[in-house]
Amino acid sequence: MPAELSPMDKAKFAAARRAVDFIEDGMRVGLGTGSTAAWMVRCLGERVREEGLNIIGVPTSTRTAELARQMGIKVVSLEEAKWLDLTIDGADEFDPELNLIKGGGAALLQEKIVATASDRMIVISDASKEVAHLGAFPLPVEVTPFGWPVTRTLIEEVLSSMDVLGRETTVRMEGDQPLVTDEGNHIIDCHLNKIGNPRQLALALNQIAGVVESGLFIDICDMVIIGDADGRVEVRDINAGTVAHEKIDFAENDNIFGDLK
Ligand code: 5RP
Repeated sequence: MPAELSPMDKAKFAAARRAVDFIEDGMRVGLGTGSTAAWMVRCLGERVREEGLNIIGVPTSTRTAELARQMGIKVVSLEEAKWLDLTIDGADEFDPELNLIKGGGAALLQEKIVATASDRMIVISDASKEVAHLGAFPLPVEVTPFGWPVTRTLIEEVLSSMDVLGRETTVRMEGDQPLVTDEGNHIIDCHLNKIGNPRQLALALNQIAGVVESGLFIDICDMVIIGDADGRVEVRDINAGTVAHEKIDFAENDNIFGDLK
């Protein structure tokens, strides 16, 4: 393992490496977006090359599609795959029920469509993303460019009647322009500090005409794998109600770090 890898990256790698063990030959796999998901794509690429694992991947962003192709993973669209066996993705926050905030990387729409078109979703994370209540991370809401300032006002109106601790919203920018997502939309970040009822908030936001989707993933995630910088991983399965503690051997994965050079 390269010495320059940060403890955070080691933790993300450990979670990602454990997660790809759940991928079996012939599977159709949703490939998440973000720095943790990128480790997963590298680890999966390694299994494809070394073991001849025969899978197809459905990426959740143009960034992930590019990396997956570079790693030798066969990439198809969700239309082609139709349904997926498993999606593995990162998250910005997860709570004890494995409800999530996602969209820090602006890919929440494709991520949610792919995750909900999968039999199972596994979230991979370092320990910093675990929270008692969602909301410290600003909640991204994807909105259509048409009339977006009006949609923002309507989001603020909805927030005024919700059980949240903050109500400020900001438009995600790229340079001096509102960021444009892969689906051609904008992102409104909601600074809520604490969300009392994530399910109610998700439903209320989706009632607004200009809202495409929110970054609240409710009842979608089945398992979380939490990595630590020393290689320890915790595997929590919400359906089975099990928690397992295991360890990843970094030395066995030197090929993957070789890819980075
Ligand atoms: C992208 C996401 C990512 O999964 C989330 O932002 C976590 O990213 P990272 O693994 O880089 O911390 O939702 O839209």
